[in-house]
Amino acid sequence: MLVLWPLAVALLATAGLLWAPWPQSWSEVPMVCRALVSALRLWWWSRQRPPPTLLDVLLRRARENPDKLLLLFEGRELTYGQLDADSNRLGRALLAATALSPGDCVALLLPNGPLFLTAWFGLTKLGCAAAFLNTNVRGQGLLHCFRSSGARLLLTSADHSSLLEELLPALRNDNVTVFVLDGENTGGAVESLHDKIQAASDQPLPQSLRSEVTFQSPFVYIFTSGTTGLPKAAIINHLRAHRMASFMTGCGFDSSDVLYITLPLYHSSGSLLGICSCISAGATAVLRSKFSASQFWDDCRKHNVTVIQYIGELLRYLCNVPKKSNDRDHMVRIAVGNGARADVWKEFLNRFGNIRVCEFYGATEGNVGFMNYVGKVGAAGKVNFFTKMLLPFHLVKYDAELEAPVRDANGHCIAVPTGKVGLLIGEITPKTPFIGYVGNKILTEKKHLRDVFRKGDIYFNSGDLMMLDHDNFIYFQDRIGDTYRWKGENVSTVEVADVLSMLDFVQNVCVYGVTVPGNEGRIGMTAIQLHSGMDMDGEQLYEHVVANLPVYARPRFLRMQKAIETTGTFKYYKVSLVKEGFNPDVVQDCLFILDDKKKAYVPMDQEIYQTIISNQIKL
Ligand SMILES: *[C@@H]1O[C@H](CO)[C@@H](O)[C@H](O)[C@H]1NC(C)=O
Ligand SMILES: *[C@@H]1O[C@H](CO)[C@@H](O)[C@H](O)[C@H]1NC(C)=O
Ligand SMILES: *[C@@H]1O[C@H](CO)[C@@H](O)[C@H](O)[C@H]1NC(C)=O
Repeated sequence: MLVLWPLAVALLATAGLLWAPWPQSWSEVPMVCRALVSALRLWWWSRQRPPPTLLDVLLRRARENPDKLLLLFEGRELTYGQLDADSNRLGRALLAATALSPGDCVALLLPNGPLFLTAWFGLTKLGCAAAFLNTNVRGQGLLHCFRSSGARLLLTSADHSSLLEELLPALRNDNVTVFVLDGENTGGAVESLHDKIQAASDQPLPQSLRSEVTFQSPFVYIFTSGTTGLPKAAIINHLRAHRMASFMTGCGFDSSDVLYITLPLYHSSGSLLGICSCISAGATAVLRSKFSASQFWDDCRKHNVTVIQYIGELLRYLCNVPKKSNDRDHMVRIAVGNGARADVWKEFLNRFGNIRVCEFYGATEGNVGFMNYVGKVGAAGKVNFFTKMLLPFHLVKYDAELEAPVRDANGHCIAVPTGKVGLLIGEITPKTPFIGYVGNKILTEKKHLRDVFRKGDIYFNSGDLMMLDHDNFIYFQDRIGDTYRWKGENVSTVEVADVLSMLDFVQNVCVYGVTVPGNEGRIGMTAIQLHSGMDMDGEQLYEHVVANLPVYARPRFLRMQKAIETTGTFKYYKVSLVKEGFNPDVVQDCLFILDDKKKAYVPMDQEIYQTIISNQIKL
């Protein structure tokens, strides 16, 4: 039965290709073939015991071509062979210094760089999973993330250890061990493992440490802020990592390519799509610690970059840089990423030349994903015969006011017709599982949608509104509910509300995102109801917000309300608030704006509003 499966896929794919009525179908053939080869190879691997993970791919590359460059980071080089040797040393030092055993999770709080890879694959070699902590998250948020990973060990770098200082008492209380991996042992609050790592042998770590690892074992935990509360650790298992790493291959990425990564590695884009794709294809990554619009093309020219990675805002930033005569002087042929809007996309192509923009859609933790491999401007993906067969997804009617899918008289969801916007949901089946969040059944359950088309079925609720057109292109429209995106980060309204509610003069808050012309995503805004008889303290509020929230999550605008209206289920009527935005002529309440120069929230007037609308102030 199982042996027949790939044969059936091959036959169906051929039939699908021949039968497909699409105009671009010939340009799609290479992509479909590559996807087919990847699928077959994965199927073949999944039948081996133990199944070859991405680590095994790395080890094979290190054996066959040890001097091939894997990573170039700000002048430092890391070859496939060096990563193998360095991660052996790190793994051995950890084994000697801790009581780590296979199956444990270890948290990493590390900046972009070779050390991130060494620690990650060192842990994989020990049969452990790595939880990537977001280096932007501070204070209690960071502690929450660490605790939810279930790790007992936290690895960091010398320059990031200061983020942990205020958390050390709590971590010690939880019996957590913290090590700095680089830097001298200065006798600081956190012990450095640097000397022990240097002194350790680089001989391979025993295979037996990984004997229990299967494709279903966790490989990494990635923190995402979905629709509810604080960041959640999404489990990425080895199978999932293989799938994500073969994504770029589908676009035509191969071992001769040089990929330019400016995204943080603690996000799935940088690590799984970026680094893992390079390992999977045997290619080279050029990594930066941080995106820089002005350095971007110089870097691409200097390193002969052929493929770049983006998130929506990134392309816009590139377009915002003043035009130069050498804008088209580069070797970049493919851009892979998500969130590019049609207008920016067109401008990008006009300006920087013939680059194939491979936009994709896929939640880190979700079970549906699309890829726009033909480069159709604005589309998040192309749905073909294959996708339809392998991905049981639907778009259903959604009520933004009630924040829930619309149900018919029988309690079932209603699929929207082609060309109409609907909530994307993906059926959860053994072949399209939703692995969920680590140790959190409630959060995982919240992403489930049950009895959708018949009693007992279960779907993954993506939280995204999408539209499928008559040519089978799928377009992203909006994100629903409690999260909005700003500067490429998901901002959880619940998390922001939790922070604001801690102030004694605040009675009720309702957090939402508003659009600003010329900016992607939504910027934070908050309606506040004060305790009766108390005044708003703009300076205290500012201090509190800066101390507790990362830059992108700080609400930029405030409006004071006498009472905040709620629905029957005690949800806020955000829709009308969002619609009114932050225009003092429209909003009747007192308006405030966060002012970093004055270090306070200050009253906002029409003049300030105009400077924002005309993009004179950079938000
Ligand atoms: C930490 O270790 C001490 C001593 O071994 C033990 O009494 C305590 O319960 C542990 N605390 C936690 C949170 O595990
Ligand atoms: C980039 O390509 C040019 C021409 O093919 C070559 O001369 C140069 O050495 C390459 N640079 C790097 C950093 O590989
Ligand atoms: C934002 O949310 C989506 C859907 O939950 C997730 O796939 C993505 O990774 C998140 N992004 C960040 C930066 O956490």
